[in-house]
Amino acid sequence: MAIFISEDKISKIKNTADIVDIVSEVVLLKKTGKNYIGLCPFHSEKTPSFTVSPEKQIFYCFGCGVGGNVFSFLMKQDGLSFPDAATMLAGRYGIDIPTQTMSPEQKRRMSERESLLAANKLAMNFFRHSLLETAAGKKAMAYLNKRGITKETIDSFNLGYAPESWNNLANFFSKKGISLALVEKSGLVIPRKDKNSFYNRFRDRIIFPIFDVSMQIIGFGGRVMNDSLPKYLNSPETILYNKSRSLYGLNMAKGKCRKSETVYIAEGYFDLLALHQHGVQNSVATLGTSLTLEHIQMLRGFIGKTGKVVLVYDSDAAGIKAALRSIEIFNKGYVDAKILILPAGYDPDSYLFEFGFESFMNTASKALGIIPFLIDSATKKHGLSVEGKINIISDLKKPLTAINDFVARELYIRELAERIGIDETAILKKIKDTSGGKVIQSIAVHEQESKFERRIVAMMLQFQKILSEISKRNILEYFENNTLKSIGEIILKHRNGSDVQSHSSCISADDSGRISEIMNLIDDKKKRNIIASLAIGEERWNSEGCLKLIQQFENSQNRRKNSLFQKKIKAAAGENDRELLDKLLKEKLIQAKKRQKNLRLADLGKT
Ligand code: UTP
Ligand code: MN
Repeated sequence: MAIFISEDKISKIKNTADIVDIVSEVVLLKKTGKNYIGLCPFHSEKTPSFTVSPEKQIFYCFGCGVGGNVFSFLMKQDGLSFPDAATMLAGRYGIDIPTQTMSPEQKRRMSERESLLAANKLAMNFFRHSLLETAAGKKAMAYLNKRGITKETIDSFNLGYAPESWNNLANFFSKKGISLALVEKSGLVIPRKDKNSFYNRFRDRIIFPIFDVSMQIIGFGGRVMNDSLPKYLNSPETILYNKSRSLYGLNMAKGKCRKSETVYIAEGYFDLLALHQHGVQNSVATLGTSLTLEHIQMLRGFIGKTGKVVLVYDSDAAGIKAALRSIEIFNKGYVDAKILILPAGYDPDSYLFEFGFESFMNTASKALGIIPFLIDSATKKHGLSVEGKINIISDLKKPLTAINDFVARELYIRELAERIGIDETAILKKIKDTSGGKVIQSIAVHEQESKFERRIVAMMLQFQKILSEISKRNILEYFENNTLKSIGEIILKHRNGSDVQSHSSCISADDSGRISEIMNLIDDKKKRNIIASLAIGEERWNSEGCLKLIQQFENSQNRRKNSLFQKKIKAAAGENDRELLDKLLKEKLIQAKKRQKNLRLADLGKT
């Protein structure tokens, strides 16, 4: 059950729970220096790169880049929400959590969610009962049997049947004393025009309950058993159900996804059932929507950073459309995606029932990456005549430019060049017409800057005493990397009081819990991973080293600014613009003075 937990309870749990204890339950840890290491539970590896710091109470995997504190560990390991992870820890360490600390608004929302989940569960049981134990359910059962769905699949997916009736589900809720105004919010019943009564959304349909990862029923899908339309009907978006974040079958697939580091994504309910029934349990289905970045990020939590996504489509055209649409998503989600196109006329459902598991896996093993797939289909479409080649390059221009990772992009360009027998540089030139020739160079510059900025944030995390200096000199103002900048801002905002300059050169007691605390303030998983990666290092910071780093950063900023300045001065001189020249020279003098002052400050820091 989800409950609200007050700040000081969270902090009590955080201070009591020990990450080494909790991780040790699932990972065999070995002590090395100040940290512990073991085999990462989130991706498969042979040499341990999963690191736990008892001092900082955080973990970080150098293999897959996942990191966090004791809460995030449980959330990821057991697929729990934050409150659930906190409740579990509280239980373990004997901390009791009073529920009456919720504000009335929190209570209302919490209880609405709980009530809707409860209503969905009742409805699922109602549909199951109709399928399994009523005369009307017989024809639904016959339909499922005809489509080859086994009793085992029916049970494990909790399939059901909504009888042909306008009001039996509504009556069922009324009899239980449950307000239909509430049930309406789950989408199961719809108000009539007069607004005084309600009718069933799902009538005479096979019912597919949709579960989230923690096995809660968030919505339903329903299919007709004849040719009437619409063929499928889904729950509307509700406070529980958001289709761009839901994947049918994920609750059943997550374990196998983790083990195999692969997930198959199909498009339909029956495709998903067929995949699971034939032994491809690491599959999910999107539900009447195209794949979103949120879907991919969720899946990446299970298959890991180096995991594989295989999109299963029933036609070339659908595949091309999906490939073009999703390339940006995969790019942003950093996953390696492949596209599996089944022979014309088959979808995963019909293919598996006709050819079986082995044949499916065999076809799947030949699935192409997105770009190779697009090269392939463009080649098929245009042929290799002179015009054909021009068209192929022009088809590939946009998808190739969409790839951020320039190494990957260069490799694909090489592949395209080889495939169509054209010089690489010619393609490169054509592609850079759109992306601008400076892209690659500027990426290199950005990486250099980010390295500096990463070190500064690492220092801010591990050496609190430097924070006043960072804020005094407005260091974050100059950051180019917005993620690092926002992490820095959070650290500054939540620093606690005393940060007098001193010579202590190790992490102080109040520094250690702080990293884990900052993680609790951040919802974004990516940012938490970055924080863990920056904080896990065993580097010892001291005032002198820190001030030196700040100075170096400022110097590099100044060099950049100076060269810009120099250019402006030259231009002003060239154009004989006395006024501008005067202004620029004055500004230069002020900057130089400021630098002098900072240098003196840095000297003071050393003594
Ligand atoms: P398809 O029309 O390809 O059907 O829809 P299917 O999955 O092969 O279904 P069967 O085999 O005929 O039973 C693919 C998916 O698109 C969504 C559903 O999720 C469906 O499974 N869809 C389709 C809808 O949401 N509404 C519709 O009316 C049709
Ligand atoms: Mn089908």
